[in-house]
Amino acid sequence: MEFSQLWLGIKPLKGCSIKTISIVCKEHVEQACAAVWELRNELSELLPEVSFVRGSADLSIKLSIAPLTEPESYTVTSNGTSASVTGGSGVGILYGVFALLRGIRLYGFGEFEECGSPTSPLRMLDHWDNIDGSIERGYSGRSFFFKDGELLINERTVTYARLLASVGINACAINNVNVRFGAEMLITEKYYTKLTSLIELFGRYGIKLYICVDFSAPISVGGIATADPLDPAVQSWWSEHCAKLFSHVKGLGGFLVKADSEGRPGPYAYGRDHADGANLLAKAIAPYGGKVIWRAFVYNCSQDWRDEKTDRACSAYETFKPLDGRFEPNVILQVKNGPMDFQVREPVHPLFGAMPKTNLMAELQLTQEYTGQQKHVCYLIPMFRSFLDSRTCCDAENDSVGDVICGISAVSNTGDDFCWTGSELAAANLYGFGRLAFDRFLTAEKIIAEWCALTFEDELARRVTAEILLGSHKAYEAYTVPLGLGWMCKPNHHYGPDPWGYEFDRWGTYNRADRNAVGVDRSHSGTGYAALYNPPLAEVYDSVNRCPDELLLFFHRVPYDHRLHSGKTVIQHIYDAHFEGYEQAEHFAELWKTLEGRIDERTFRNGCERFTEQLRCAREWRDIVNTFFHRLSGIDDENGRTIYP
Ligand code: GCU
Repeated sequence: MEFSQLWLGIKPLKGCSIKTISIVCKEHVEQACAAVWELRNELSELLPEVSFVRGSADLSIKLSIAPLTEPESYTVTSNGTSASVTGGSGVGILYGVFALLRGIRLYGFGEFEECGSPTSPLRMLDHWDNIDGSIERGYSGRSFFFKDGELLINERTVTYARLLASVGINACAINNVNVRFGAEMLITEKYYTKLTSLIELFGRYGIKLYICVDFSAPISVGGIATADPLDPAVQSWWSEHCAKLFSHVKGLGGFLVKADSEGRPGPYAYGRDHADGANLLAKAIAPYGGKVIWRAFVYNCSQDWRDEKTDRACSAYETFKPLDGRFEPNVILQVKNGPMDFQVREPVHPLFGAMPKTNLMAELQLTQEYTGQQKHVCYLIPMFRSFLDSRTCCDAENDSVGDVICGISAVSNTGDDFCWTGSELAAANLYGFGRLAFDRFLTAEKIIAEWCALTFEDELARRVTAEILLGSHKAYEAYTVPLGLGWMCKPNHHYGPDPWGYEFDRWGTYNRADRNAVGVDRSHSGTGYAALYNPPLAEVYDSVNRCPDELLLFFHRVPYDHRLHSGKTVIQHIYDAHFEGYEQAEHFAELWKTLEGRIDERTFRNGCERFTEQLRCAREWRDIVNTFFHRLSGIDDENGRTIYP
């Protein structure tokens, strides 16, 4: 096998008395067929001597569709000799079968019951794969969707679809939001056949295919002179082009679009706004049931660092809030979890509490661009869970982020590496994202316990890995960027420390550290960003005394001896966090070593290599950030530790 099966890997049940299994399924929908295939494939390998029989058997499994309220919901019951899986549709059956198989892997055949119903209708992975096979911000090898301009469909694609369905992902955008290097042509005849095959394959697993399109396709593909959304020639071009595309490529989910951001074309070039832009595409694909997922990641990336009033954090809000209510019903606005760009700590994006008349979807990042690039262990699910639970204080009875969104997506962390995610431990993020997207009330602890048990047979390995993963985000934050500051990484590739790397640059990502103070004033006396939240959040963030410690420097500029709620001064917090974060990383590396001989050699070595690099880099972060602040502030560590070795 050229690639891992991840959590679907085979672990035979020892001493199992079941020898015969009968599967009864009268449903002929394609996902139910996929469900039967899963049962046969998985159980016959779990029980090598099993033969599937009709009629009486040691174990009978009945699959059926019941008109439940939600097509993707399921109920699974098992009593040790018979099991029944009822789904709201073929997809529900498939999800139920995966839940049953998960139950069998986790607890063995026996008493088991589970009901599942998605808490979010759209659960999506976004690939930043380029059609030449490279991956933007990819840390797991090359693309398995594209090679040299061709779309690939092979065994890996099938396994990927199975992996996604097994955790409830139901949508996938396969190409980079930066549509370049020929990816503009994905919507042309050349790709119709391959796209159709991929849609069929994904469809068996309940997954809708999306593609990223170039807003200026009328120019780059159509050869006309403009992409102005209000120009009738442009409107006809999109309508005709999409009529052809959707009639040949049946079942395409729709488009994901990045416009007017980081050099991508968009409606601004023609003096139009983002509702004009999104609605142009939405109208063209509405007749075919298509959706436009339009990204809110729009900002001016040419800021002058001397300009203290312009604030990148305000940008998406200022762009989109005035457009609330103007989008077509089939437009979904995809908003990053925070207002900047997937930093280890950011406040929740204020747009989640500000657009009641717009379909909103959250965008998270699994690929660890700013969180250690899959060389550092950083389990993101606790952060995601707390994001979904965060209150927006909007005018709704249930006002948390999870309540106000209709979908949740994440930038995928996969590639063609043997283990899919570069680091074997990073697969926990992929698994966890799917599970949490399907059921946002699952705890990070439950998810990790499942993943560890599905990944390692050894008890100690499960315990050790769970401990490492659960502590990893906190440790990473501690030895990197303190108190919500963000952006102290090296420019461009975003790996390793460089406190002033972005400071005098055009990207609008500053920490404003000097010898007197540190942090960005986003209160009423600064950029005014805090006021974009609904009350009482706006007042809490605006107040230097009420702002939570972990976001203090995101919202306020304070002197180094400012005292936090924790009782420490800012400077002492910085020192302590960096020393403690590094010690945590050391502890993780030591823990990992105890697994030698208890887990497979490849996984063990993969972890050792990565922990070695994590430690090296964590030390660098600790020393450079501590030295930086020590030199600027001139304040010594209360505990007299060596700041620079
Ligand atoms: C980040 C990332 C880019 C990406 C962009 C986006 O800025 O560094 O590579 O294109 O986000 O989300 O569009």
